[in-house]
Amino acid sequence: MAGQIPPQFIDDLLIRVDITDVIDARVPLKKAGKNLQACCPFHNEKTPSFTVSSEKQFYHCFGCGAHGTAIGFLMEYDQMSFPEAIHELADSVGMIVPTSQSFTPNPAKQNLYELLDKVSQFYIQQLQTHPKRNEFKSYLKQRGLSSAIIEHFGIGMAPEGWDYVLKKFGGSKQAIDQLNEAGLLSSNDKGSTYDRFRNRVMFPIRDRRGRVIGFGGRVLDDSTPKYLNSPETPVFHKGHELYGLYQARKANRKLERLIIVEGYMDVIALAEKGISNAVATLGTATTPEHLRQLQRSAPEVIFCFDGDRAGREAAWRAAENALPLLGGNHQLKFMFLPEGEDPDTLVKQEGADAFNKLVTDAMNFSDFFFESLEKRVDIDSMDGRARLIEIARPYLRHIPTGVYRDMFEQRLVERAQTSTAVLHKHLETPPKAEKIINKMTGVSTGMSPIRMAITILLQHPELHKAVGDFDKIANLSRPGIAILIELLETLRQQPHLNTAALLERAREAEHADHLIKLAIQTLTLSAKELEHELVGAVEQLQQEAQKSRHEVLMAKGLSQLTQEEREEIQRLEIRMR
Ligand code: CTP
Ligand code: MN
Repeated sequence: MAGQIPPQFIDDLLIRVDITDVIDARVPLKKAGKNLQACCPFHNEKTPSFTVSSEKQFYHCFGCGAHGTAIGFLMEYDQMSFPEAIHELADSVGMIVPTSQSFTPNPAKQNLYELLDKVSQFYIQQLQTHPKRNEFKSYLKQRGLSSAIIEHFGIGMAPEGWDYVLKKFGGSKQAIDQLNEAGLLSSNDKGSTYDRFRNRVMFPIRDRRGRVIGFGGRVLDDSTPKYLNSPETPVFHKGHELYGLYQARKANRKLERLIIVEGYMDVIALAEKGISNAVATLGTATTPEHLRQLQRSAPEVIFCFDGDRAGREAAWRAAENALPLLGGNHQLKFMFLPEGEDPDTLVKQEGADAFNKLVTDAMNFSDFFFESLEKRVDIDSMDGRARLIEIARPYLRHIPTGVYRDMFEQRLVERAQTSTAVLHKHLETPPKAEKIINKMTGVSTGMSPIRMAITILLQHPELHKAVGDFDKIANLSRPGIAILIELLETLRQQPHLNTAALLERAREAEHADHLIKLAIQTLTLSAKELEHELVGAVEQLQQEAQKSRHEVLMAKGLSQLTQEEREEIQRLEIRMR
């Protein structure tokens, strides 16, 4: 299977995706020094030993030893096959896998999609035929939904009763297991199993490709919980999906902007009024993964929040999450609704124009950012302005370097009435934790130069550029030499490969595990020092190889040497000087 997708494509893919987002969407990560951490999803633990390195694009659990790239993570965590994981990742960054015809979807997941689709059809059909359908229909009507929009979003009803779905779709033990896996059942302490969704308006949730992956169900009255959602399943990950994205993309040939609202009903009520570019997160904060998906679909993304304090706080959290995605060709904005309104109530009372006006007047990201920070200080005093720098500082370094960050810094400097020189002086003070504590060198660790060179290349592939000639080292018959040469040659041809790509290339190789061990070694030298170590190690090997070749030739005795060999000796002696 692995052979059917060109390795070059996998290399590119692993450069485009960010493993921290892939994992964070499934297992929320916390910053820990240079890396990110969580309690390991592959074994039971109370303190986090699961570490994700954004630099290496690699995860590793110090507790149970689980490890791998973004591809490996999806294979383990989402139980995907290798090609499936590639497709999933490619999808998430908008790349198309070159050999899609050879792609056989995971049959287990395929069955879940089919089941979820059938169940969603069942809910729709209930809304047309069930004896109590009118209660639901009048609820939807009272909320202002036309039959066209009900159909467009595939809204249905789960009748009141414990086993409509169970009876219709759970004919065998295997079928019941599948319903369970699809998140359609609940069970109580006594072990009896019944329909998860009962007496609710049903909103099917679709993925970007339009497949039903889960449901949200709303009660008709004030009972709680107001909304019940599908649990996490192999096909449904809350932090990943956006309600309405499929419909928004379908309704607009070219999306100029997408608006993130809070609820299902907001998306639908806006669409009812002709505003077909709203999406909602599923009761979670907007994750970087959400944002990435949105930015791939439209150049402008607007966060829409309630104007009250809770709304402003939610907006600030969204802003924090958005920092790494600023700049480039993307615009991020914020719009605030009058207190107590949500998009649904606003368009109903004041019409689409009123909402559209708020969209047009949306605040730029930077305006919102500075306004929020300046509220926390007294900008008219020197102390307040110094404090502004202090509180803005931790945010700045999350913005990708580039024009946007420069302008952001410029603005901070202007507001604080200081200079970029002063700002940078502060930004560049290295935090204590990052100071090099125990320097590791080939000598002090007893690492062989081959092992050292492989380790550095794996962890910092970009350093290969500093390496000089290595044409002779193949003559050394030492463990690892072939791996080192392969690495160096691969990087000469593909200078942009990252750690993850290098490891994926070796996935099937005998030495794969060995490479992983080296890739997770801690190197505490600075980039400059590592470069020095690497160059030194390869040079040392090259010299040894030349010396041993020289010895072999000299051992032959002068009279036995061919003309070519004599010339080789001369060349070697020049180079060995
Ligand atoms: N939500 C949820 N579970 C709840 C309440 C809310 O998952 N018990 C999520 C839903 O995705 C919902 C969103 O949070 O759409 C916003 O919640 P809320 O503002 O309470 O609901 P509205 O969308 O305004 O719903 P409605 O207008 O139907 O009351
Ligand atoms: Mn509402």
